[in-house]
Amino acid sequence: MVTQILGPILPIAICVFVVTLLALIVLAVLRRARAVWWLVLVAEAGVIVLIGRQWFAPREYPRLYAAQPVPAPRPLAAQVGGSGFRVGVAVSEPVLERHADLLRAEFNSVTPENATKWRRLLKDGRLGDYDFVQADRIVDGARALGLQVRGHVLVWGHLEIPDGLEETVGSAADPAGTLREAMRHHIRATLEHFRGRIGQWDVVNEPLSWTSAKMHDNIFQRTLGTDYIDHAFRCAKEADPSVALYLNEQLWEYDGARSKQFLQLLADLKRRGVPIDGIGLQGHINMLPVPSAAALRAYLDQIAALGFSVEFTEVDCRLRMFDGAADPYTAQAEAVADLVSVARAHPACHGVTFWGLSDRGNWYDELPPFSLLRPNDPYLWDDAMRPKPVHAAVARALGGGR
Ligand code: XIL
Repeated sequence: MVTQILGPILPIAICVFVVTLLALIVLAVLRRARAVWWLVLVAEAGVIVLIGRQWFAPREYPRLYAAQPVPAPRPLAAQVGGSGFRVGVAVSEPVLERHADLLRAEFNSVTPENATKWRRLLKDGRLGDYDFVQADRIVDGARALGLQVRGHVLVWGHLEIPDGLEETVGSAADPAGTLREAMRHHIRATLEHFRGRIGQWDVVNEPLSWTSAKMHDNIFQRTLGTDYIDHAFRCAKEADPSVALYLNEQLWEYDGARSKQFLQLLADLKRRGVPIDGIGLQGHINMLPVPSAAALRAYLDQIAALGFSVEFTEVDCRLRMFDGAADPYTAQAEAVADLVSVARAHPACHGVTFWGLSDRGNWYDELPPFSLLRPNDPYLWDDAMRPKPVHAAVARALGGGR
């Protein structure tokens, strides 16, 4: 898994290793041969520069779609009729304001991309002190457009942890009790604030490590063990029993050790009677091979067999994944449409949310190593707000029905 995640960096690392090894051998044979030492160093630098240039140079793929006549619009949400299937998109406040008409026409749901994360809801980052103004603007703005809102996310051990939490918990006489109370307070404050306006929440995000089939080692897991998940869901249920409570996770592959571990976790939570309503699969396609439709379907079957609903909550797909394809835009369209078709057809699956609207300002462009491996262009509209082939393909997939 680690090897796969480091995929783009690996060839460079191997080359550096080989060249350094050769240099050591040469040095050992020709002790004190300074000229050789310099030569090896220059060669090593040259190899690194060459490989770096090849890997990190932004690619430009011909936009064949832009040369064709603009197709008749097939708005996404209209394809699912009144089925209740969620067709969502993650937004920031500027995106919501700027593209209100498009959002209303194409979607039936939005997720605040960042504004409802724990750290972002705090006034000047102070634990227990809230400033809901920005989040309210998104939530109320979306509702005024007739869109539902997915809340994201109450407890996330990887990122967006409030600044003072580690210190508060670490210096407490009773760290476990202190953390439990901080979680309960945050979950209650948030759910009470958004009561009646947000019908579905990601309660816990990414409980697994990103790189292995283990629980992620974070402040929640370290202090409370896996019971932190149980605690978060029970607090949420207690705070607002009307909200649908989701456990959200990113799986790059759906038939390997990590995805099996996630199923095991779900089975354990079910056995313990934790009040989880549904499972969110993020669905980012960004570095490992594109999952097959068969693997996705089989995975949804297994989640359904445990008695959970499921939604894809953060779908996007990096264009650079299809570097070798005849037309990367078409390949991207096919990959996303496959996922959406599986989601739409599966009886336990009730929605797909895309993790952004237009390629301009997408989150990968800010995040190394993806920011160095462009184009990311992971969404349905390009940076000039033209629908890409992936838009038409998703519309067709959504229209496929169950
Ligand atoms: C990302 C946002 O899109 C970025 O703007 C932010 O800088 C980092 O977080 N999985 C999640 C989301 O659950 O919350 C992440 O969102 C993307 C990965």
